[in-house]
Amino acid sequence: MQKILIVDDAELNRELLRSILEDDFEIETAENGKVALQKLQAYHRKIAALLLDLRMPEMNGFDVISELRIMGYMDDMPVLIISGEHAVEIENRCLELGASDFIHKPFETSIVRNRVKNTIDLFNCKNQLQQKVWEQEEALKKQREIIQLQAEKLSEAKSFHKLMVEYRSVMREVESRLHVLSDMFSEEYKRNPFESIKCRLKSPESIYRKLEKRGYPLTVESIQENLTDVAGVRVICSFPDDIYRLAELLSRQDDIILLRKKDYIKTPKENGYRSLHLILSVPVFLPHEKKYMKAEVQFRTIAMDFWASLEHKLKYKKNIENTDEIGVQLKECADSIESLDYRMQEIRDKIFFVQD
Ligand code: GTP
Ligand code: MG
Repeated sequence: MQKILIVDDAELNRELLRSILEDDFEIETAENGKVALQKLQAYHRKIAALLLDLRMPEMNGFDVISELRIMGYMDDMPVLIISGEHAVEIENRCLELGASDFIHKPFETSIVRNRVKNTIDLFNCKNQLQQKVWEQEEALKKQREIIQLQAEKLSEAKSFHKLMVEYRSVMREVESRLHVLSDMFSEEYKRNPFESIKCRLKSPESIYRKLEKRGYPLTVESIQENLTDVAGVRVICSFPDDIYRLAELLSRQDDIILLRKKDYIKTPKENGYRSLHLILSVPVFLPHEKKYMKAEVQFRTIAMDFWASLEHKLKYKKNIENTDEIGVQLKECADSIESLDYRMQEIRDKIFFVQD
């Protein structure tokens, strides 16, 4: 049987509550706040609920709550106020201080029984949920630590180091080829086909995570076989048609193999994401061999890039409220960006294609 502590200076009230609740609970009583605190100090974890009168000599109900808050006992059990007070502000103050419920005198047997029972059930549920959340957070923390440790181990291996140098080389190779194309393009059209190029090498931790998530072996061979985005090159263009022209010129080079093409400009993702992705296999000339390495090349306009970097933050930032609403707004922005990109392209044509 669960134990409850009834605190009231009137013996009649204590006995009345005892008679109402003794079938379901083991009853402890205290005649004032001081005695109640002594009892709680001795066995507060064993108390399933505290029924507390407000007006008492020596130490009133509010003072008991203040002490319980200081001692940190309010999280250990629900406090139900039992009082003849009907003033809304008093009831509100109790609830604000952390009381779980307020039962008015004179007592109505079934109301007292139900309220005490419900409050205890709810409190237990809340505690169990909190415990579960805590356990899950701990498990996640442990998992993250393991992943970090394994990723560190992986990154220390010599063969992994060598592979990363090779991936860095393929990024340089792709970047260099794009610059050559840009030089030729600028010569012909008198403007640059892209604004900037960003290269990024996937971190050992992300590599490890992705392999594990997809169930691939955690080996250097497996990285080359199963991952296509260790070497990432992002090309930021001014206009949509530059994207297609550049992508075509690059993937058509006779030693480059186009492994996959994902056109999220023609078919945007549901959230509004637009970019052209190419997975290429590109030869890299190493000291003793020529080796084909994979690289993911993403082409997007300046405006699409601006959008994607903000949207990316939404995905990875925790505790954001209204994510649905923000998602809708981002989608609207993505659509506006599309029409803006094409209007800018039309204006560019009017400027550049006039005969001097
Ligand atoms: P990932 O496992 O996320 O790499 O996806 P994937 O290999 O199936 O390919 P996908 O073409 O969907 O995405 C490749 C990369 O494009 C991602 O790693 C991101 O850098 C970028 N990307 C794709 N979808 C989105 C998106 O909705 N928003 C943003 N901001 N970036 C995206
Ligand atoms: Mg990817």
